[in-house]
Amino acid sequence: MKNSLGPAPVQRVQLGPFFIDHPFVLAPMAGITNSPFRRLMREHGSALVVSELVSANGIEYASARTMDLLKFHETERPVGLQIFGEDTENLVKACQVVERLKADFVDLNLGCPVPKVVKRGAGSAMCRNPPELYKILKAMIASVKIPVTIKIRTGWDAESRNALEVVRVAQDAGVAWVVIHGRTRAQGYSGDADWDFIGDIKAKSMIPIIGNGDVNTPETAVRRVRETGVDAVWIGRTALRNPFIFEQSRDLWAGRPQPVITAERFLNLLSTQRRYLAESFDEKGAILHARKFLAWYSSGYPGCHEFRRRVFQIPDGETLWADAIGFFSRSLENRDLSFLAEPFLMGGHG
Ligand SMILES: Cc1cc2nc3c(=O)[nH]c(=O)nc-3n(C[C@H](O)[C@H](O)[C@H](O)COP(=O)(O)O)c2cc1C
Repeated sequence: MKNSLGPAPVQRVQLGPFFIDHPFVLAPMAGITNSPFRRLMREHGSALVVSELVSANGIEYASARTMDLLKFHETERPVGLQIFGEDTENLVKACQVVERLKADFVDLNLGCPVPKVVKRGAGSAMCRNPPELYKILKAMIASVKIPVTIKIRTGWDAESRNALEVVRVAQDAGVAWVVIHGRTRAQGYSGDADWDFIGDIKAKSMIPIIGNGDVNTPETAVRRVRETGVDAVWIGRTALRNPFIFEQSRDLWAGRPQPVITAERFLNLLSTQRRYLAESFDEKGAILHARKFLAWYSSGYPGCHEFRRRVFQIPDGETLWADAIGFFSRSLENRDLSFLAEPFLMGGHG
């Protein structure tokens, strides 16, 4: 006889033309979600990945640094490359470059609050003029066959939370989905992401709406999907302190037991990340990235402050990784989760 108490059937999630296994995705973070980390997070459950923002004006000049940012690995698919800029012609050309590089979609950053970017009229400033934005999106969409997606904030400030108008314009232009970081541009990273507002927009929209902001546990991730009805949830900063957040959220969502994070699993993750960093960066670059990640991953574990001090002092990779292996084999119990409530990385490009 069939066991009627088995796990509930899990449906795949449709985002534009993509069918993904579950709705939990790594949010783009400049200087952090580089190709090695995106590969790692795809393997550890992120349902798809997106690059950090890359300047469309920079793509026009094709500097080596810009082209490096556009590199991705086949195992990242589905993978999107995120662009930003204020000039329609350069944005169109950038979309075409992204398509030629064979990325699966191109994402336009309309959420960046950084003064240098908004002063030029790019990032979140572009949402202040929806009719103009419509024209830009139309031009971008007409120029490529791959889907064009956007990432926005709720609005410029508390008086002008026009995300619904932006979503309507995006919908009419043919954008495949909209990611909403639940804060205004004026808020930067202060206050809380407004998920009621995101849920309201989802209820009034025809295209997939993805929510983002302050998801710091698998329980919150699943709750956000169930309570607001969003099509997916983008998770950024938490992945830096808990790189297992995607598989944990996926299993909770699917009604499966949550994976236990053993020292062995953490060490496997570290060894893969070390390998991927070495494949993408020279020794100096790989150490710089390794230090940041090791410090973030250690948050809340006994001895993390001492460990962090060492991480930034040890000059060579061999000693650094040996120390990290020692730390993560010994310290994986008794994590103090109160750190999750502490403000963390309160600045970024989206
Ligand atoms: C250091 C940092 C860099 C960021 N860079 C980008 C970026 O390049 N593009 C983007 O759309 N958002 C960027 N963001 C915003 C995140 O994608 C996300 O919207 C924000 O961190 C809120 O989500 P979270 O609370 O899950 O981190 C960045 C955030 C941080 C903290």
